[in-house]
Amino acid sequence: MSELARVSLSIEEPLLKSLEKLTRASGYENRSEFIRDMIRDRLTLEEWKSGADVIGTVTLIYNHHHRGLTEKLVELQHDSLAHVLVSTHVHISHEICAEMIMVRGNGEKIRQFAGTVKRQKGVLHAELSMSTTGENIS
Ligand code: NI
Repeated sequence: MSELARVSLSIEEPLLKSLEKLTRASGYENRSEFIRDMIRDRLTLEEWKSGADVIGTVTLIYNHHHRGLTEKLVELQHDSLAHVLVSTHVHISHEICAEMIMVRGNGEKIRQFAGTVKRQKGVLHAELSMSTTGENIS
């Protein structure tokens, strides 16, 4: 871990109050840690825009009785321009499945992959979680 530097900043009183409220509501014990994590969130967002290598996780819920869908989902993972790191399948009920697909690669390619998955007929819900390799945010 890098050495800590101390900074002071000027901020409007109402904004400071909002920051303190947010810090407490988010369960942080101190402002510094909350601000560090806010900066990391922003850096991660920038990585997604910049084309850097990022980590994304697509969670999808689908009906496996829908004709050809299971095969199509496998095919999409094989053809994805983002690299599939792992996928996990869980049977939710007689006909509903949940899948978690973690991918690494260019943010735009991952978004395209998630969008294509979401648009398949029989997919009931899909959500992309945008994270980072962690290499550039410490
Ligand atoms: Ni299943």
